[in-house]
Amino acid sequence: MNTTQAIRSGTAGMMILLAGGCGGSHHGPAPDDPATIEQGKQTFRFDTFGDEAQWTDTLRMHEVIPAAVDPVTALSVGLKVDAEALPASVVKGIQDGSVDLKSPATTVALIKLNAVVGLVGKVETVGGKDTLTRVGVTCALCHSTVDDSFAPGIGKRLDGWANRDLNPGAIIALSPAVDAALKQVYNSWGKGKYDPRFNLDGKNGPQVIPPAYGLKGIHRITSTGDGDDIAYWNRYVAVTQMGGLGSFSDSRTGVSVTHGSTDLVGPKLPALQAYQLSLAAPAAPAGSFDAPAAARGKLLFSGRAQCMSCHSGAEFTDANLRLHPVSDVVSEPEPGGAPSYASRSATKQYRTAPLRGLWQHAPYFHNGSAATLQDVVTTYNTRKSLGLSAAEMADLAEYLKSI
Ligand code: HEC
Ligand code: HEC
Repeated sequence: MNTTQAIRSGTAGMMILLAGGCGGSHHGPAPDDPATIEQGKQTFRFDTFGDEAQWTDTLRMHEVIPAAVDPVTALSVGLKVDAEALPASVVKGIQDGSVDLKSPATTVALIKLNAVVGLVGKVETVGGKDTLTRVGVTCALCHSTVDDSFAPGIGKRLDGWANRDLNPGAIIALSPAVDAALKQVYNSWGKGKYDPRFNLDGKNGPQVIPPAYGLKGIHRITSTGDGDDIAYWNRYVAVTQMGGLGSFSDSRTGVSVTHGSTDLVGPKLPALQAYQLSLAAPAAPAGSFDAPAAARGKLLFSGRAQCMSCHSGAEFTDANLRLHPVSDVVSEPEPGGAPSYASRSATKQYRTAPLRGLWQHAPYFHNGSAATLQDVVTTYNTRKSLGLSAAEMADLAEYLKSI
């Protein structure tokens, strides 16, 4: 039996077990069972799914970090530090300057403490010295940030909040295994963006890292609605992007990837999905918008601006009913002459974006082509010939800030 067959039959076996175990009624843990959610949280934050094969064996990041990535550099490429993982002595050392933030050895020490959000490393004593021997990445790398309560980039974890400071392309480009032509592509992406299809189709069109919160009840996942549930995309990213051990295939795109002979991804997907579904979009902070203007904007949203014809229902999306052809969508053509992102996807269409928590995650649209909510409104006004006045556009933007 080859690797693919082994994994497929393993998965099939599991499906049979699950089906048999359920027997039509629901004996298994419910998706909102607290223990399942807690398990999913651990997976989201700390599970590499065995992707050290990619980040260590192939990309050799375990050599790059101790050679070149001191904490100041790490923070400058958007990596975040979990203040709650720091012992009091380290907190004091950062405060009084005795912990050297210009030394890569400090980064290794932080990884050893499991304090760098989204990085998981193995630190062993080699020749009497702490040495990073393996490193991998987790979902939290891109989909968590921190509240900066200790210092910029250092604070309590905020899971599900997209890390828009993170520059994944610049990080990957540090690898000695990446050639000059590829480095140029990776370095072109910039902060808060990542192209989750480039390594498969060779086309360059980076996507804004989206929030992983506020997705409960939405059955079209990703900006192009490729999957019916979060687990579809989690399997895709874990295997084809992070390099985790397991299998993903989709006949619509022709993507078929298997890593290793043990499935470290599939069995974790139900709990991982349950955790993400438990993450609500954060409410707009009090005082962050002008309430009377937002109230006027709300009337425009449902009225003359016709936003609700697509952004309908509790999550402000018609995603469960339909997707939209590129011709209906105001965010194409792509910036910089990039190929249509929809054309690279399984559906070739776009999902109406859910709008809760908008205040938190500028820039907007799948490609980040609108820097602010004001820009979003201006784009709609022009492209859809809405005829809104400047004051009306300002009101509508104020409403979007409040959602
Ligand atoms: C290197 C950065 C990166 C990592 C690591 C990553 N993602 Fe993502 N994620 C993205 C990008 C970029 C998209 C946008 C893809 C699209 O819309 O086509 C995305 C999309 C998503 C979505 C869809 C959100 C929506 O609105 O439908 C979910 C859910 C998600 N990721 C969860 C995860 C989970 C869980 C993991 C770990 C298994 C993970 N991601 C790892 C960058 C990342
Ligand atoms: C024809 C359906 C349709 C209409 C009408 C529509 N939208 Fe959208 N909207 C979409 C789709 C599809 C997307 C996702 C586009 C993308 O990701 O590039 C989107 C994205 C957005 C986003 C970006 C969300 C994010 O997370 O980046 C905002 C904000 C938004 N729309 C606001 C509005 C407003 C305000 C109106 C009314 C003026 C409106 N939309 C009218 C379909 C629609």
